[in-house]
Amino acid sequence: MKRNLITYEVLDSTNSEAQRIISAGSISGEFIVSAGFQHHGRGHSTNRWVSEPGRNLLMSWVVFPAFLSVNQQFQLSKAVSLAITDMLESFSVHCRIKWPNDIVCDSGKIGGILIENSLQGGEIRHSIIGIGLNIDQQVFPLFPRPAASLTNETGKSHDPVEVRDSLIRYLIRWYEKLKGGEKGSIDTAYLSRLFRLNESSVFIDGSGEFTGVISGVNETGELLVRRDGNIHTFGFHEIKMC
Ligand code: BTN
Repeated sequence: MKRNLITYEVLDSTNSEAQRIISAGSISGEFIVSAGFQHHGRGHSTNRWVSEPGRNLLMSWVVFPAFLSVNQQFQLSKAVSLAITDMLESFSVHCRIKWPNDIVCDSGKIGGILIENSLQGGEIRHSIIGIGLNIDQQVFPLFPRPAASLTNETGKSHDPVEVRDSLIRYLIRWYEKLKGGEKGSIDTAYLSRLFRLNESSVFIDGSGEFTGVISGVNETGELLVRRDGNIHTFGFHEIKMC
């Protein structure tokens, strides 16, 4: 994998650069784009991903998961979330996976995942897996909500490049499990790290605020919420946790 690691000091966005490399056809097979700073880092919807220069992990991993059908694409998000939480656990930092793509510690969000899949027919042609993780940044004046970082959680400074190289090893490990058809163990591990599983929480959907309990995630990655004795399913942009 080291061979296919392309590093930049500054980029607009590692996901955008990965897309340009794919379009140019200059690399065949998997590769990683990593940057020290992004001036147009992208989050979900129209959100920006803002990060101090040289202090955080900003990378995109391009894979070709032809073994997954389009309906199974959320499995990739599960495997990536598990790799990130395993890597953080190796620093004794206990985080949870906040559906659908956040990694959170008690003190706030430590990372986010932006997966952009190229679909053709029933297949995934390629996936650009963008990962942003707060490593050595200590103050977050531009974050709209409380944020965490590896340095703040551990009380020690960390090198984003070393953390990135460690994360790559965990990513490969979980991706191999996915490839090897270990869906059962991925699903079990994912549920065990899911933020607010089986806890009463307040949500907002298209009709307003309500209290419910997350009971899991279905095969296509929709959130399952129990409310008044019934299970309701919610797609990515249909619900928010307060
Ligand atoms: C989110 O929480 O909304 C997802 C954030 C994903 C940010 C990462 S940083 C590396 C990669 N390049 C981007 O432009 N975005 C992702």
